[in-house]
Formats: sequence, C-alpha cells, structure tokens
Amino acid sequence: MNDFESACRSYRERTERALAARLPGSAAIPARLGDAMRYVCLGGGKRFRAMLVYACGETAGAAPGQLDAPAAAVEMMHAYSLAHDDLPAMDDDDLRRGRPTCHIAFDEATAILAGDALQTLAFETLSADPALSVSAARRLRMIETLAAAGGARGMAGGQALDMQATGAGPSPDVAHLARIHRLKTGALIRAAARLGGLAAERADDALFGQLDHYAASVGLAFQITDDILDVEAGPGGGALGKHGGADQRMHKATYAGLLGVEKAKMEARNLCENALETTASLGDNAAFLANLARFAVNRSF
Ligand code: IPE
Ligand code: IPE
Ligand code: MG
Ligand code: MG
Ligand code: MG
Repeated sequence: MNDFESACRSYRERTERALAARLPGSAAIPARLGDAMRYVCLGGGKRFRAMLVYACGETAGAAPGQLDAPAAAVEMMHAYSLAHDDLPAMDDDDLRRGRPTCHIAFDEATAILAGDALQTLAFETLSADPALSVSAARRLRMIETLAAAGGARGMAGGQALDMQATGAGPSPDVAHLARIHRLKTGALIRAAARLGGLAAERADDALFGQLDHYAASVGLAFQITDDILDVEAGPGGGALGKHGGADQRMHKATYAGLLGVEKAKMEARNLCENALETTASLGDNAAFLANLARFAVNRSF
C-alpha cells in the first residue's frame, strides 16, 4: 500500500467512525428506519466526499476534530441521494456497494424515509454537533452550502434533469449533459471542498476560490468516470459493487454514450489536469489532493 492508499484508508476509517457516532441508535427511533439508515451509510463506499472535506479542511488549517461533523454530514447527504437514486421510480437498481440496494433489502417506503431522515440528520449535524466549534456565522454558511448543493440548484435539480434526459427521445448535447453532471454530482463534491474550508475560521476568499476551481473539475470528472465504469463493468460489477450496463438498460444520457469511451476518458483526464493547476499551491496536502483528483479519473470502483 503506498502513502496515498494508506492516507485514504485512514480517512475512510475516520469517516466510518464519524458516521457511526452520529447515526441514532435503534432504541431512539423506529427500529426498521434506523436499521435502513445505518445500512445505507455504513460499511461501504469510497468516502470520496468525506476525504475532500478532511483534505481541504486540513489545507485550510482546520483541526481534524473540526472536520468529522461536516465529513459525516456530506456522506449522509450522499447516502440519501443514492438510496433515492436506486428506487424503481429513478434508476431502478438492485445492487449498490456490493449489496442489495436499500429498497430491496428493506422496502420502497423505508428507502424513501431513510433518505429523508439522513438528509435532515445531515443538517442537524451541521447545526448542532458538539464536536464542531466554529462560530455561528460559519455554521450558517456550512448549512447554506450543503442546502444549496443538495437542492434544486444542485443535486436534486441535476437528478430532475437526468430523469428528463432518460429513456427514448433525443440525447442531450454535451453542454447540457455537462450541466446535468455538474449539478447531480459536481455540486455535492464542490460543497465537500467548501465545507472543509469553512471549518477553518481563517480560510479566506482566495483559498475558497482555489478549492472551488479544483473541486468543480474533479466533480465533473468523477461523474464522467462513473459513466465510463458503468460501460466497462460486467453484470455483477466486481469491485464496482454495482451492475455494469445499467445506464444503457435505462437509456441514460452519459458521456460514454454520447462521446464514446475513449473521448470520455480524454475529457476526464483534461478535467483532472485542470484540477491539478491549483493543487501545487495548496500546502501540505497538495500531493494528497493531486492524487485524489487522479483517483477520481483512474479508479476502478
Ligand atoms: C456514486 O457515487 C454516485 C455518483 C454520484 C457518481 P460514489 O461513486 O462516490 O459512490 P460510493 O459512495 O463510493 O458508493
Ligand atoms: C447518481 O448518478 C447521481 C446521484 C445524485 C446519486 P448515477 O445514477 O450515475 O449514480 P450510480 O451509477 O447509480 O451510482
Ligand atoms: Mg442516477
Ligand atoms: Mg444511478
Ligand atoms: Mg452511474
């Protein structure tokens, strides 16, 4: 395991602990709902967004203890988006992170409610987590950041456009597809970088600008790569943990479908290069952030 892989591993373990500590115990809430919330949040996932919170936050000067709450919050939001994305009304998937999707393991109503409850828990975490000791003004900016990224101007809006572009009918052009991807996936990835910065009281606008330049390119590259992996994985998905070919089955608009796999890979690589323009000036975590951008496009899961 190289330095980057061992850093990822320790961030992932830290994220798992941060999530486990914040998910309500089943005695406190309806047991089946609590089980479903833990099922979608714990025990899997790359924790890419949490790693961004930690790495960008440390770059900005935040102590790791300040970053557990925003890292957990962004992964709760992400887990909610996955539980809803997999529903029959959306992508109708039965495999995620190598396991049955939430609505298969439980039922549709429980998957919807687990997503709803995880979304509100994310905001409860940003607003009231005792481990986060930033000023009230900073907390408000964190809440605003996650809300904007998850809502109609971010992930939910992107998912709406994704569904409109799904099925028979004309394919969107690349500019429209880029917009869908920047919203449905890029927005939360940008928010993760910003949340890290917001946990450091001394982060200034210049740093927020650099982090955003980096995360905007990484966010689009991440979803282009997700589209490519869907084409390259077979049924059962292997390390990917979800079935390959799902996008074609649903007639999804994807980069791989629109441009072909090779051009899509080139586009992802260009975006990675674009992200790398800013990493050199990002201090101690420059190398990690550069490798995280490379991971976004070179990953196999
Ligand atoms: C999958 O996200 C959905 C997208 C937005 C592309 P990830 O690939 O980050 O999924 P996990 O969290 O690692 O399972
Ligand atoms: C998901 O995009 C974006 C979300 C907001 C969840 P996909 O639908 O391509 O993600 P996967 O392939 O199911 O993980
Ligand atoms: Mg989808
Ligand atoms: Mg999907
Ligand atoms: Mg996909």
